[in-house]
Amino acid sequence: MCGITGYIGYREAYPIVIKGLQRLEYRGYDSAGIMLFDGQDIHVTKTKGKVVDLEALANNDEKSKKGSTGIGHTRWATHGVPNDVNSHPHTSMSGNLVIVHNGIIENYDTIKKELINRGYTFKSDTDTEVLVNLIEEVKKTEDCKLGKAVQIALNQVVGAYAIAVFDKSKTNEIVVARLGSPIAIGIGKDYKEFFVASDASPFIEYTNKAIYLEDEEMAVIKVGKGVKVRKIKDDSLVDTTIQELQLSLEQIEKGGYDHFMLKEIHEQPKAIQDTFRGRMLADEGIIKMSSVSNHLEKFLNADRIIIVACGTSWHAGLVGEYLFEDIARIPVEVEYASEFRYRNPIITEKDIVIAISQSGETADTLAAIKLAKSKGAFVFGVCNVVGSSIARETHSGSYTHAGPEIGVASTKAFTTQITVLTLIALKLGKAKGNISQTDFNSYIQMMRLIPSQVEKVLESDEHVKYISSIYKDATNCLYLGRGFNFPVALEGALKLKEISYIHAEGYPAAEMKHGPIALIDENMPIFVIATNKGHYEKVVSNIQEIKSRAGKIIAVVTEGDTTVKEIADHVIEIPETAEALTPLLTTIPLQLLSYHIAVMLGKNVDQPRNLAKSVTVE
Ligand code: F6R
Repeated sequence: MCGITGYIGYREAYPIVIKGLQRLEYRGYDSAGIMLFDGQDIHVTKTKGKVVDLEALANNDEKSKKGSTGIGHTRWATHGVPNDVNSHPHTSMSGNLVIVHNGIIENYDTIKKELINRGYTFKSDTDTEVLVNLIEEVKKTEDCKLGKAVQIALNQVVGAYAIAVFDKSKTNEIVVARLGSPIAIGIGKDYKEFFVASDASPFIEYTNKAIYLEDEEMAVIKVGKGVKVRKIKDDSLVDTTIQELQLSLEQIEKGGYDHFMLKEIHEQPKAIQDTFRGRMLADEGIIKMSSVSNHLEKFLNADRIIIVACGTSWHAGLVGEYLFEDIARIPVEVEYASEFRYRNPIITEKDIVIAISQSGETADTLAAIKLAKSKGAFVFGVCNVVGSSIARETHSGSYTHAGPEIGVASTKAFTTQITVLTLIALKLGKAKGNISQTDFNSYIQMMRLIPSQVEKVLESDEHVKYISSIYKDATNCLYLGRGFNFPVALEGALKLKEISYIHAEGYPAAEMKHGPIALIDENMPIFVIATNKGHYEKVVSNIQEIKSRAGKIIAVVTEGDTTVKEIADHVIEIPETAEALTPLLTTIPLQLLSYHIAVMLGKNVDQPRNLAKSVTVE
């Protein structure tokens, strides 16, 4: 939920750490802080607010920017309200140890009481200040080095963490550790410098070599010497591999767009293409996915597929339900990971659990996977972030290859997740003999057109912007869709509420009569997905019902539609495709619409209030 970063080496640490925090701000942005060590003294600067506020504060005091060792933090509050005092870094009582922490220490209260009994006092309400003092206490009582003290202390805590700790008495090292929250170590040339961060984006312009810690591992990073990784439990040394990063600087910058969200919306044609590249072999009439083929028997003999996910990924899972049941004829249940994990679900060895997650770090989804595995189910992951916790925890899986998604509102993650699910459904449908080679080929041909069709939908941006200007002041909106496009209605509503803070609800169009219709009046905009396939006539009837109650209708229709055009107040056209593929197109105008409305209302599109990109806590 928070972003942590750090630098130790020969360069000025301040600009590196600040830039790193800006790149990690998608993980949390209610407060920010930095510690610099100038060779003599530790300087901690922290504040409620964003990294820009931290920079403004640091600009008042040149000392706070000096030094070639630094750690920084951008926070999404869990323990303690977001204020200056609760912001990280936290310093131990002696002032010698400084820590940044992403996660939660669940037994902090018990530890805090023990430390208070031993004379410790606390400035903040955070679990993190407890942890840094626990490390200090262990260091004192055991008379050991920082690394050992961290190892012993972490064996006493319950919870989740990614931490970076600096000790004023050991100035050439930083100690990091991980359990449940990611941490990457960037390795500079000849070990002259090191970087630490929640993901590799803060250091990508300096090195493409990194070590990703596994859960329950810690590392002592020493300038000039190297990195020693150990198991937290028993202190045993771990043989680590240094990875070559594929990330480029261009991928994590805005590239001329005003916001990451807009950039990511526009990246969808390429992202979808990248998702099926090398997998969908149109000329050979096959879908090649070894992650599925290697376990084909399991998929073909599965009693059912259970999809677990949260938020937008859950909406993609709902589209998956329609795809798997329609194309592959496998029964599907779609579950909120947060509910599934606690409701004692019935899971058997003949179930396949598909976990969908952009970040691959969502705590509830991860817990749902662990539960399913413990009951013997085969677990398949659909993740975007390579090497993420969920990708590692699953038995097999497919990456979406969407590239980094930085805007907090998920866009290209959604369409690429649907792309992966479509490929799997087609592959299984064919393997089970539920679709003919001709239908399969026809799907592939239509799928091939999707990137250029998304491009075409994106050309309606000005028109969508105009519609946005008309409805931007609405206080409530409804989104309606049926069949494959019911989840798109949910997703459209989520996009609007999360970045513009306008209340919006998604419904299956036919459910409108069972309650929401009471909301309709001349002030209510209703976004209806009414493509020419599936239940078109029925949706047209729903539109008529809205019209007769004076609601404002904005419809997403198939090119050439005349019926809805006559009734609706506005239409946005998408190109013709198979019904099962329409979500990949109908989603796009709804993303643009929420984007424009949020911009027009002056909202912070990439960092909406109270949200964070990866939800690594319950
Ligand atoms: C909405 C959004 C969230 C995420 C959810 C799951 O735009 O981004 O609803 O979809 O937090 O995150 P992942 O996919 O990373 O597991």
